[in-house]
Amino acid sequence: MENIDWGGLPFGYYRTHYNVRCYYRDGKWGEIEVSSSEYINIHIAATCLHYGQECFEGMKVFRGKDGKIRVFRWEENAKRMQNSCEGIMMAEPPLELFREMMVKVIRMNERFIPPPDHGAALYLRPLTIGTGPQVGVKPADEYLFLIFAGPVGPYFKEGFNPVDVQIVRDYDRTAPHGTGHIKVGGNYAASLKPAARAKKEGFSTVLFLDAKENKFIDEAGPANFFGIKGNSYITPQSHTILPSITNKSLRQIAKDMGMNVEHRPVRVEELEGFDEVGACGTAAVISPIKKIIDRQTGRVYEYCKDGKAGPVSTKLYNTLKGIQEGKIEDRYGWTMIID
Ligand SMILES: Cc1ncc(COP(=O)(O)O)c(C=O)c1O
Repeated sequence: MENIDWGGLPFGYYRTHYNVRCYYRDGKWGEIEVSSSEYINIHIAATCLHYGQECFEGMKVFRGKDGKIRVFRWEENAKRMQNSCEGIMMAEPPLELFREMMVKVIRMNERFIPPPDHGAALYLRPLTIGTGPQVGVKPADEYLFLIFAGPVGPYFKEGFNPVDVQIVRDYDRTAPHGTGHIKVGGNYAASLKPAARAKKEGFSTVLFLDAKENKFIDEAGPANFFGIKGNSYITPQSHTILPSITNKSLRQIAKDMGMNVEHRPVRVEELEGFDEVGACGTAAVISPIKKIIDRQTGRVYEYCKDGKAGPVSTKLYNTLKGIQEGKIEDRYGWTMIID
């Protein structure tokens, strides 16, 4: 294992030894290539550079106390990547190719998988880009699918401690009939300015509202939003929201904890009635939220009055993390063990 300060890792890029790549040319995917270069050689007219033919995924690999290496719900990421590719007319990496490349990149970078109990993981970043040249606005006829890996620490410096978020009404991350439901780079480009402003103003992230009416809660930065009200787990549903694999898993766990699960449009006014609120996604699992400020109206919503995450969010967090790290029985078959 590498000699790294595992507990001090940020959520950022970390150079590892290998990445894996596969090109789609002449209508078919080629051989898997292993590379130790951090660079790709790319045509100046590649469609990813001009017309945003780019999508990505983010997933984590954990080393358990039992020494086993587990990857969480990889098929969901692979299917979501296919969906993203379909949405912007790129060739879709087959599930079997995704699996083979994922296992290879994990095995080849095994020494970078953090030991348990440091709050760290090996992060995988699958990426598909249009590499074929076009000058007219058209899809490419060549694509590159690659996966790189690197150890990461917690997404927010607060870890599982509550954060403040800001409602923005003067920016949208995606259009009502746009690409919010898929994981394409353009959505993230559109979120950079409001996110940077929110950070400057003292918030961890932004809470986007629906672009059409500004009435419904959309996404919490690069994560889904959820609220707890009594015995209900409530989370927004909309075409513009990325279907989070963490959120899908939390809905299942909440159901099995005997909670009602509501997956439906959620109006901004409902923020008043929630006992707990949080953001959820691969990077942080759950980031509890202690304060939401509406930047335009000045309205403030407060939670976690004692400064700590609420009991339901804590239970959901511990259960999901426990399954990912092999501490809690995986009754759903969500983890795959890499031998
Ligand atoms: C916009 C957005 N929403 C939600 C999520 C959370 O999704 P997941 O739980 O699959 O990581 C992510 C991260 O992938 C994201 O970028």
